[in-house]
Amino acid sequence: MLHRTKIDFLAIRKPVKQHMEKPKFKTVQEVIASDEGLPERYLHTPTVDTESQPLDAPVPEMDIPAIDLSLLLSSSSEHGQQELRKLHSALSTWGVVQVMNHGMTDAFLDKIYELTKKFFALPTEEKQKYAREIGSIQGYGNDMILSDDQVLDWIDRLYLTTYPEDQRKLHFWPEIPLGFRETLYEYTVKQQVVIEQFFKAMARSLELDENCFLDMYGENAMMDTRFNLYPPCPRPDKVIGVKPHADGSAFTLLLPDKDVEGLQFLKDGKWYKAPIVPDTILINVGDQIEIMSNGIYKSPVHRVVTNREKERISVATFCIPGADQEIQPVEALVTETRPRLYKTVKKYVALYFDYYQQGRRPIEAALI
Ligand code: OGA
Ligand code: NI
Repeated sequence: MLHRTKIDFLAIRKPVKQHMEKPKFKTVQEVIASDEGLPERYLHTPTVDTESQPLDAPVPEMDIPAIDLSLLLSSSSEHGQQELRKLHSALSTWGVVQVMNHGMTDAFLDKIYELTKKFFALPTEEKQKYAREIGSIQGYGNDMILSDDQVLDWIDRLYLTTYPEDQRKLHFWPEIPLGFRETLYEYTVKQQVVIEQFFKAMARSLELDENCFLDMYGENAMMDTRFNLYPPCPRPDKVIGVKPHADGSAFTLLLPDKDVEGLQFLKDGKWYKAPIVPDTILINVGDQIEIMSNGIYKSPVHRVVTNREKERISVATFCIPGADQEIQPVEALVTETRPRLYKTVKKYVALYFDYYQQGRRPIEAALI
């Protein structure tokens, strides 16, 4: 069966309706500094099969290919064809690839890691200048608290819309550490090149017109970048960094920590850890490419586990189709043997939050 993974998505016992965040919060760093012990709100009580193991139980490593983005673009060559087949195979099974030759230097990626680390290492008062406001997703803060009995994720984050430019809320963009803003501008531009190339490569790998996904994605598409900090956690067996979820984006570009593991993907009911491959960008399919590809490319369920000794950082960019775009399976991928699986959706991210809050997989709402 499709997507009926038995997962308690938000570990919310009572479904809640309203989007509004509760006003009071502490970041995980503040919880640690306050010396109050581990608040019960972070403790995970396993309720379903896949979660019956301690969260820090060892899991095997996933076997995903590193894809050479520059080769994907030369699809007329033999190497290019081979690379496209690799892409097709990985995205239709795991929904994840590591991308190399993406046009960003190692030094540039290192700068992003360093600036992220430096930001989270700033004193609380400094970070609070960029604190998320009630009702806003952008800014600095902890896991969004949407209900009184939500189990919280062990994560602090800085969430910024980077594109289109008129959606940027620059008062949330750190002025310290120096260079943060400029680097994020630059990263946004560099990512746009990768995003366009990846959309084209995905289309080619399905033998489609190379612009068919891009056209659906739209000219007014949005990019949200989330800087994540997972501080060391005293109970990695019972506390989770990010609960199991699939991304509501078209796809997501991720810079995982270069030293500390934590990201895991679910396949056939089992968890696998993502390998650390230096200087690659991890790209995972989100729900909206799953819909556009009529279910051929999979939006994988994933989670982040915590670590007792080490902090972990990551930087995720969600590529979100324009709000007015109609997202639906590409016609050429609907056949007699592969009937259309999804309805047409619009503003999927809003629908995503409604479902997510109820502990359901949002993509279920789009199934025919
Ligand atoms: C996310 C996510 C993974 C990570 O932000 O949606 O899955 O490694 N992050 O931080
Ligand atoms: Ni995710």
